[in-house]
Amino acid sequence: MKAQGIKDVEVRYLINVKEHKMWAEDFASVENNLFVFPLYVHAMPGSVMKFFEELRPINNKDVHMAFLVQSGFPETSQSYYLRPYLELITKRLGVSYDGTIIKGGVEGLKMKPEKANKKFFDQMGQVGRNMLLKELLI
Ligand SMILES: Cc1cc2nc3c(=O)[nH]c(=O)nc-3n(C[C@H](O)[C@H](O)[C@H](O)COP(=O)(O)O)c2cc1C
Repeated sequence: MKAQGIKDVEVRYLINVKEHKMWAEDFASVENNLFVFPLYVHAMPGSVMKFFEELRPINNKDVHMAFLVQSGFPETSQSYYLRPYLELITKRLGVSYDGTIIKGGVEGLKMKPEKANKKFFDQMGQVGRNMLLKELLI
């Protein structure tokens, strides 16, 4: 993202649930939002869902939401259950749906040698270069 000249990327950690109310209130002021989260038992983590439930309809297609769901198992089939729900959220909020990236095989990255993770980080770099982001929600 930085290589594209994007300077003002703000990373917000949704695990900080006390900040949700404030972030939900200024959500409409940010044009591009990428939500990155792990799959927990075929679903999204509770903190992510809590934040979505805090959001109110915006009805402005200039506000964009995209998603990246990462999961532990190498196959990605379990994450596809989430995709229709994520698209539905954008419809209910009246914002643009920019798609959902689904990535499997992410369990245990920290335990693997750097060489074994190269492909993964190259792919993530590609995602960053292809997205015009202002806000990253993890
Ligand atoms: C409580 C919990 C439930 C999970 N459920 C799934 C699952 O259903 N399918 C899957 O492929 N990975 C599952 N995972 C793996 C995560 O999606 C994730 O890939 C892994 O925890 C690595 O990410 P992290 O370093 O952010 O924790 C689960 C992990 C946890 C901790």
